[in-house]
Amino acid sequence: MNVILFGPPGVGKGTQGEKLATEVGSQHLAMGDILRAAVSQGTEAGVAAKAYMDAGKLVPDELVVAMIEDRIIADEGRSFLLDGFPRNVSQAESLDRMLALHGLSIERIVFMDAPEQNLLDRLCGRLICKACGFGFHRHYSPPRNSGVCDRCGGELYQRDDDREEVIAHRLEVYREQTAPLLDFYKGKDGFRCIDASGEMHVVYDALKEAVEG
Ligand code: AP5
Ligand code: ZN
Repeated sequence: MNVILFGPPGVGKGTQGEKLATEVGSQHLAMGDILRAAVSQGTEAGVAAKAYMDAGKLVPDELVVAMIEDRIIADEGRSFLLDGFPRNVSQAESLDRMLALHGLSIERIVFMDAPEQNLLDRLCGRLICKACGFGFHRHYSPPRNSGVCDRCGGELYQRDDDREEVIAHRLEVYREQTAPLLDFYKGKDGFRCIDASGEMHVVYDALKEAVEG
């Protein structure tokens, strides 16, 4: 089953998406992770994307559409969970064209939402492992040893765009460019909406029910 997860920054797309994809055996295609990997590898796309990401702006559509298409067709037989793509109506239209071209379809589109105060608390406290990319939170899911990844022992860091002033801009970009996707997807088959303001396990149960129900 192919799934789209969308919602505001910090709502839990990455945390829940990775868990669900692992459980059902799908590939977790997280646009932000794909872009951050391109930046750290210094690829042409990564170099072009970096300034947009640091400023909390969307990377140009043509760049992200090409990157996600590469990933989808690289493993065409395998189901996927898209997290952070599409992020505006034009990307959603490109995705529809791309799926039609490859004879693929999306079975569930899940919108995750939470009040802004939850989003701010989550983003300000997020910590990520430099080595394996696993996410922690200073208060809500702290590592056993401060600054060290439980999974691999890697060093934890704060994302450059998780500074307060950049977070405010990302939320503004979300309201202006990504929120209109709700109207685009609302009437489509497979559209579901979940409350992502609760504790992680509660949100995960709601997500599973939305995807499987
Ligand atoms: P991206 O990495 O996709 O960032 P985002 O959408 O802003 O989402 P986040 O990763 O910040 O949040 P999330 O919802 O995944 O939350 P998480 O699970 O980590 O994109 C980064 C940048 O790349 C963009 O700004 C843009 O420049 C560019 N980009 C990406 N996609 C693009 C596209 N399609 N087009 C153009 N540009 C694009 O959770 C956050 C924290 O909260 C964690 O610490 C977690 O532990 C904690 N947490 C999660 N759930 C809970 C809970 N229920 N209770 C308590 N804590 C929780
Ligand atoms: Zn790690």
